[in-house]
Amino acid sequence: MIIDGKEQFVMTVIMAAGKGTRMKSRKSKLVHKIFDKELVKRVTELATNIGSDEVIAVVGHLREQVEDVLKDTVKYAYQDELLGTGHAVMQAAKYLEGKKGKVVILYGDVPIIRETTLKTLVEKSIKNKEYATLLTAIYENPTGYGRIIRDEGGNIKAIVEEKDANMFEKEIKEINSGIYCFDIEELLAALEHIQPNNAQGEYYLTDVIKIMNDKGLKTGAVIVEDNTEILGVNDRAQLELLTRVLRMRNNAYHMKNGVTIEDENSTYIHDDVIIGMDTVIRPNTIIKSGVIIGENCEIGPNAYIRENCIIGNEVKIGNCVEIKNVKIGDRTKVPHFIYLGDAEVGEDGNIGCGTITCNYDGVNKNKTVIGDRAFIGSNVNFVAPVTIGDDVLIAAGSTITEDVPSNNMGIAREKQTNKERK
Ligand code: UD1
Ligand code: CA
Repeated sequence: MIIDGKEQFVMTVIMAAGKGTRMKSRKSKLVHKIFDKELVKRVTELATNIGSDEVIAVVGHLREQVEDVLKDTVKYAYQDELLGTGHAVMQAAKYLEGKKGKVVILYGDVPIIRETTLKTLVEKSIKNKEYATLLTAIYENPTGYGRIIRDEGGNIKAIVEEKDANMFEKEIKEINSGIYCFDIEELLAALEHIQPNNAQGEYYLTDVIKIMNDKGLKTGAVIVEDNTEILGVNDRAQLELLTRVLRMRNNAYHMKNGVTIEDENSTYIHDDVIIGMDTVIRPNTIIKSGVIIGENCEIGPNAYIRENCIIGNEVKIGNCVEIKNVKIGDRTKVPHFIYLGDAEVGEDGNIGCGTITCNYDGVNKNKTVIGDRAFIGSNVNFVAPVTIGDDVLIAAGSTITEDVPSNNMGIAREKQTNKERK
C-alpha cells in the first residue's frame, strides 16, 4: 500500500473460524452468499483491494468449505478451539513474526465494509503513528458490543466488553466494530500479555488496547460514518439485511451517475456493474456483476442481465428478457420474451418476440452471431453454432440451423396447408 508516496507493508488477518450456528445450515456461514459472492470471498477481495501484501485467513469450523472458496488467494492459520478473538489472531502469529508494518484485522462475516473506510483507517494509523487504530461507531443502542473507554482528553484508554462493563461503561455509545489496524510488532508483544480472566473466559483481542496504553504506545480511532458498513451476518435475517444494504448502496451509486431507477426496491444491481448516463432501469430487473450497459438504454421490466454482457448505447432490453454472455450493438431492440445466450448481435437490429438462442447442446455452449441491421421475426430459434450476416431478415417462426449470408432472407418453417373442414 502506498501512503504519502511511501510504500508501506500491510497484512490482513481475517477471522474465519466461527461456527455460525444461528444460520441453521449445513454450510459454513462464511460461504453463504450476497449477490452470488461468498461472504468470506468478499472480505478477502476487500483485503486485496486495499493493497494488502499478505492475507491470512484463520479458519476452523468447516474449514474445507472456506478453503474451497478462497483456494490459494490467502494463507491459512488454524484455530481448532474458539478461545476468543485474541486467540484467533495468535494462531496467525507465525506469519506476522519478523515483519515490520501494519496488520488489519477483519472478519469473514463482516463483508460490506467500504474499501475507502479501511484505507482511511490504515492511513490514519500510519500518518498519526498509532500502534492501534480502532474502527468505532456511535450506536443509539450499544447493547452487546465492546465499549470504547476514552479519558477526558478524548484519548482511547481501553475497550470493555458488554459482559465485563459496569453501569457507567454500559452508558457509553461509542462501540468497537472489531476492525483494527495494528503495528505488527507491538500487536505480537501485547498478545503475549492477554489473559482469559474475564466474564467469558476468553482471550480478548480487545485487551491489547489497554496493554499498549499502559506501555505508553499511542492509540487512536476512526469513527465510521455509515454504521451499516460494520454489520455482520449471524443469521438469515441479517443476510437479507446486508443484501438489502448492498443493493441500496449500488442503486444509489448508479442513480448518482445519472441512471434512472424506477423502483429502487425491485432493482438488483450486483457489484462492479457499469451503466451509462440516461439509461432507465424498469422494475424487477437483475443485473449481474461485471455487466456493462451503455447510455440511454431502456432495461426491463423483468429483465435478467446475466454475466458477461456488454450492451451498447440506446439499446432496448424489454420485458421478460434474459441474456447471458451477450454483446449487443447500439440501437438494437430486444423488446420482449427473449432468451439470448452466448451471442453477438450487431447494431440497429430488431429481435422479435419469443426469439431464443438454442446455445446448449447438452455438452457445449455454442455461439450465435447476428450482424448489423438484422430483422428477426417473432418466435425464431437459432440452433447454435450459427452465423447470420448483415441486413438479414429471418421469417417468423423459423428454426435456423444453418448460416444465413448477408442481404438474405432466411425462412425455415413448415409450409402452411389449409384443409377444408368437414
Ligand atoms: C467482538 C469484540 C467486541 C466488538 C464486537 C463487534 C472481542 C473480545 N470483542 O465481540 O468488542 O464490539 O466483536 O462485533 O474481540 N472468532 C473467531 N475465533 C474465536 C472467537 C471469535 O474466529 O475464538 C470470530 C467469530 O467467528 C466472529 C468474530 O470473531 O466472526 C467475533 O467474535 P465474537 O466472539 O462474536 O465477538 P463479540 O463477542 O461479538
Ligand atoms: Ca459476535
